[in-house]
Amino acid sequence: MIIETLSTFPLMYESVMGSSMMKRARERGIIDFTAYDLRDWTHDRHRTTDDDPYGGGAGLVMRCEPIYEAVDALCGRPAPEGVVTGREQPLTGPAPQHPQGPAPTTVFLTPCGRRFDDALATELAGCERLLFVCGHYEGIDERAYDLADYQVSLGDYVLTSGELASMVVIDAVVRKLDGVLGAPDGATDESFVEGLLEAPQYTRPAVFRGREVPAVLLSGDHGAVARWRREQSLARTAALRPDLLCQAPLTPADRSFLDS
Ligand code: ADE
Repeated sequence: MIIETLSTFPLMYESVMGSSMMKRARERGIIDFTAYDLRDWTHDRHRTTDDDPYGGGAGLVMRCEPIYEAVDALCGRPAPEGVVTGREQPLTGPAPQHPQGPAPTTVFLTPCGRRFDDALATELAGCERLLFVCGHYEGIDERAYDLADYQVSLGDYVLTSGELASMVVIDAVVRKLDGVLGAPDGATDESFVEGLLEAPQYTRPAVFRGREVPAVLLSGDHGAVARWRREQSLARTAALRPDLLCQAPLTPADRSFLDS
């Protein structure tokens, strides 16, 4: 999968994309990641990407021109004829890494977008190429959203940067790709995949400060372990996230456990 980001702080990606599982995914050639600097598609001396909001108000709004130019360039599209950019300087932008690649699916990060969840992560994991467009400051000129295939929100709160939000989405998507996690079922046996919270996990020691690991997990009885995990999942979800239970695919055995 090709993953690209377009933002004014591309260096923010270095630690996340250069560590742990994301690093492994890049080293194994499962993802090809590039963070582009939106300022490379500006034309003034100060490389300006934002401006005052029309109508007044606090903060700055990201201008749509550099976003359009960058997305056109990254998609291998020529700028429409007759477009007046008011440029003072020629473009300094980097050569796009995949000019002949598949057209990217564009994902804009915004608190006004569709709430991100496991189902959306799975949907995005099916794309060949993702381009994340990240705002900063007060937001993005509304006209830029015409370029968006998806508008995605992490939740009902406002972050200072879309970069952070995009890293969360990238992580949740990439860990679903074949070969990223160690165990073959690493991404299937976990919270939310079946619409439930996952069962508690334990590792050595078997007794820690007097607290014992549940005996069933030491029993070697795989059937009993699977049943215990399912019941723990159901009980935990009922206690902590009852809203999830209405959507989860429950078996008759699940329902009788919940009713007991
Ligand atoms: N940018 C700022 N806040 C955000 C949020 N909650 N989700 C996605 N992008 C954002």
